Amino acid sequence: MPGSPAPSATRLGVIGWPLGHSRSPAMHTAALRALGLPWSYLGLPVPPELLEETVAALPGSGYRGINVTVPHKERALALADLASPAAAAIGAANTLSFSSEGETRAENTDAPGFLQALGQTPEDLRCVVLGAGGAARAVVWALREGGAREVAVWNRTAQRAAALASELGVEHAEWPSAVVAAADLVVNTTSVGFGGRSGEEGQPPLAALGIEGLDPPAVVVDMVYGAAPTPVLEWGRRGGSVLVDGLEVLVRQGALSLQLWTGHEAPVEVMRVAARGPDEPPAPHLG
Ligand code: ATR
Repeated sequence: MPGSPAPSATRLGVIGWPLGHSRSPAMHTAALRALGLPWSYLGLPVPPELLEETVAALPGSGYRGINVTVPHKERALALADLASPAAAAIGAANTLSFSSEGETRAENTDAPGFLQALGQTPEDLRCVVLGAGGAARAVVWALREGGAREVAVWNRTAQRAAALASELGVEHAEWPSAVVAAADLVVNTTSVGFGGRSGEEGQPPLAALGIEGLDPPAVVVDMVYGAAPTPVLEWGRRGGSVLVDGLEVLVRQGALSLQLWTGHEAPVEVMRVAARGPDEPPAPHLG
């Protein structure tokens, strides 16, 4: 309308350090276009020492919300004014929303996104989670809330797995062999396989995770994603398991975040195509 001020641009973004080749900007930009929203979604590479002041400045610069990735998920929860019960229980937030009243709300869409990517209920499944970092916390919480029959956590550093297991009320496995042999579902949340990463001192990835020589369960999920199938997904493929990759989890968590910010149902298929990319896939990345 002539004379009226131009509406300020509405922005979204993803904050991480290093941000690397995050697929979130391409995925969300495609989704915003499909929804017909003139919003933008930007990559925000922000080091830990600048996290707090950057987040505080975002609402004033037109930001409606942001995704949060490694290594900021725990601090993002701490600096929010309000947290969803899921984010509080998991101890990490991957989504921040800024209200017009100036409040920052923390949510964790990694957990429901993981369950959606799984494509089946974990009810009655015996589950093993490899790793005890932030990604493991969201997965363990999701499996437990989803009604899994058993959830056992194994980690290279046993102490960390024991602490996570006792905090979230699941089992701690001292060695994967016993629990993996009886499992229906194994989820790799470690960074083994990320960017072709092997174990310590060149140990093969499956040996580093204690699953070499074991038969895979019915369903194998790897939160790591990249251009090539990861060693853990290759393990599942050889054994005929149903496979779920980290890109599907990325798409699902992103779709849930977008719904929170826009109030619109997210165009999941558009996001999936954009995240997987028709061209040269970017370097592997952790969700
Ligand atoms: P995130 O928040 O993404 O989960 P993180 O907290 O750094 O990241 O956790 C990384 C996970 O990968 C941890 O479980 C880590 O094991 P430790 O707790 O023993 O460090 C696991 N990990 C990383 N490198 C590994 C390796 N070479 N072998 C086995 N586990 C590894």
